[in-house]
Amino acid sequence: MIPIQKGCKDVLPAQSYAWQTLESLARRTAKKYGFREIRTPMFEATELFARGVGDTSDIVTKEMYTFNDKGGRSVTLRPEGTAGVARAFVENGLQGDVLPFKAYYIISAFRYERPQAGRLREFHQFGAELYGAESPAADAEVIALASNFLKSAKIKASLRLNSIGCAACREKYVAALREYFKPHLPEMCRDCNVRFEKNPLRMLDCKEEACARLRDGAPRITDYLCDDCRAHFEGVKEYLDGAGIAYTVDPRIVRGLDYYSRTVFEFVSDALGAQSAVLAGGRYDTLLEKMDSKPTPAVGFAAGLERLLMLRGESTPPPHITCYIAGMDAASRKKAFLLAEELRAAGVPCEADLMERSLKAQMRYADKLRAKYAIVLGERELAEEEADVKNMKTSAAERVNLRKLAQYFKGRKA
Ligand code: HAM
Repeated sequence: MIPIQKGCKDVLPAQSYAWQTLESLARRTAKKYGFREIRTPMFEATELFARGVGDTSDIVTKEMYTFNDKGGRSVTLRPEGTAGVARAFVENGLQGDVLPFKAYYIISAFRYERPQAGRLREFHQFGAELYGAESPAADAEVIALASNFLKSAKIKASLRLNSIGCAACREKYVAALREYFKPHLPEMCRDCNVRFEKNPLRMLDCKEEACARLRDGAPRITDYLCDDCRAHFEGVKEYLDGAGIAYTVDPRIVRGLDYYSRTVFEFVSDALGAQSAVLAGGRYDTLLEKMDSKPTPAVGFAAGLERLLMLRGESTPPPHITCYIAGMDAASRKKAFLLAEELRAAGVPCEADLMERSLKAQMRYADKLRAKYAIVLGERELAEEEADVKNMKTSAAERVNLRKLAQYFKGRKA
């Protein structure tokens, strides 16, 4: 047997119900906010992520599945959804359409990370992106969508909010960070020594113990915001307060992707151990320009579906089928096959025997499927054109004309 790749997971038929439920909650919430689905390719030119996600991020430097295709082009399995949506927006000329542009996606994404609980190499995200609005109301709307989605999925997670300002605020802040971290570099990890040169902001979310310890004494970005960025951040908080969405300002939230500016946020859960972020996002006002668009402000988020499913735990799926039709002999089996087709045409999920099993074994199978009703056909039923429809839970039975079965099941579907 050739085993599955490390960090990948099969979703078996018994588990797909939980996925479908979560995905339909995502779709329903996105719809309420006027977001429509966008689908972009699973692989893109490597350059898109290098330029989009940023060449100082761990994702681009260490985690991408990159390969040359047969034409010698360097392509990459998407490590996230934002860059692809931005490309699609620009390439399809949607900047000329009505703004704001609002789109959501449910995708698989790929990162070459060390697998552990809640961290996979192929994982799934529900994400939403909003382009064209600079107003703090846009940040708040995206956060409200995220918050309502989590609420609908009965996920308890707390919102951590921060602003990392614009390029001008960050220039001053980065200088202050370098000054603070410089004397500590020898005790910090090798990655942080590289980050010190390339992107000191990332030193704030290093998971290494020695580095994390230094974080608390570091200067805070919120003390370095310019007037515009400060007013924007206050605006976002005001909208969230107004909407009754609770948050904690956490100056350590800097995010691992390079494209962010101003608002950044994470919804975290205590129940998840090390991989505590279930949903994360922020504003990225300069990304679209990098994709050769005219300047277009943008804000969005993505949630990790595996992590949400871990938090939701097992749920009992509904019965697979409404009705099982058993046949006692060859003629009844044939009739069962035809009746099942009739019921399916009327929208009633049902099954009939395909294994030529004994009646007892057929009923055991029906039980296993958790069929709501069962019908047993034999010589008598065929002659009378009537059969007992048995409720599998209560064992109550009703005699029903075989031609009226579809009608009988109207309103009785599983
Ligand atoms: P991210 O923080 O890299 O942001 O990922 C968002 C969420 O995806 C995480 O909070 C986590 O729940 C899930 N996730 C990430 N990596 C893994 C993994 N290896 N295994 C399982 N789950 C994972 C982004 O991807 C941005 N594109 C979000 C965004 C959209 N910002 C603006 N718009």
